[in-house]
Amino acid sequence: MSSLRRTFVAEQERTDGCVHVLLITTGSVASIKAPLIVSELLSYRNVKVEVVSTKSSLAFFDAAAVAGARVWRDEDEWTEDGGYRIGDPILHIELRRWADVVLIAPCSANTLSKIAHGICDNLVTSLLRALAPTTPTYVFPAMNTLMYEHPLTNDHIRIVRDVIGYQIVGPIGKKLACGDIGLGAMTEWKDIVQIVVDKFQLLRVPDS
Ligand SMILES: Cc1cc2nc3c(=O)[nH]c(=O)nc-3n(C[C@H](O)[C@H](O)[C@H](O)COP(=O)(O)O)c2cc1C
Repeated sequence: MSSLRRTFVAEQERTDGCVHVLLITTGSVASIKAPLIVSELLSYRNVKVEVVSTKSSLAFFDAAAVAGARVWRDEDEWTEDGGYRIGDPILHIELRRWADVVLIAPCSANTLSKIAHGICDNLVTSLLRALAPTTPTYVFPAMNTLMYEHPLTNDHIRIVRDVIGYQIVGPIGKKLACGDIGLGAMTEWKDIVQIVVDKFQLLRVPDS
């Protein structure tokens, strides 16, 4: 295995008594909220966070600005030097083994469509395709209003919700980053964190 590649082994990274939150970010402007979502989650006791981001998503926030969590990207999954050996940890499998809950926040129209069709051509979608159906997974769509109202979106949401079993939350209506007003914005980032807090009955770290 390439010595340059970062590795992750679920068994070594999981901590008894902790809630392991996997935050997936995709190519919507709402990805700028990722550092806030991570820091708010980490203000609760016994929470660990890992972030997995698509290439487009990383145009909207600086991975180095995410304090307290690693940001995993496609390059971490692949080496160009033929360095994979049987038995080496496979990142998308290790990350899904690690996760107690998955948040896809924001979920772009593109990734929503890929999930609905079972496409797994990057780290995010490979991980999701390999995810156990018992892992609670929340999808927070975020897209331009007309993208959201596109006739295909409804079908993709239906498949992701009714066939795959993920929970769809939002989008909400407001003035979008592109200037349009209407449905399509990601659920408020604090409300996203609150879903995890309520589900796992999290308590604040004292003085945070
Ligand atoms: C400035 C900018 C903003 C964008 N905002 C969104 C968005 O809010 N929602 C969306 O679905 N796509 C948006 N896109 C398009 C996606 O980034 C594009 O479809 C991309 O292929 C998504 O890839 P991903 O799903 O792998 O992250 C935006 C593109 C640009 C250049």
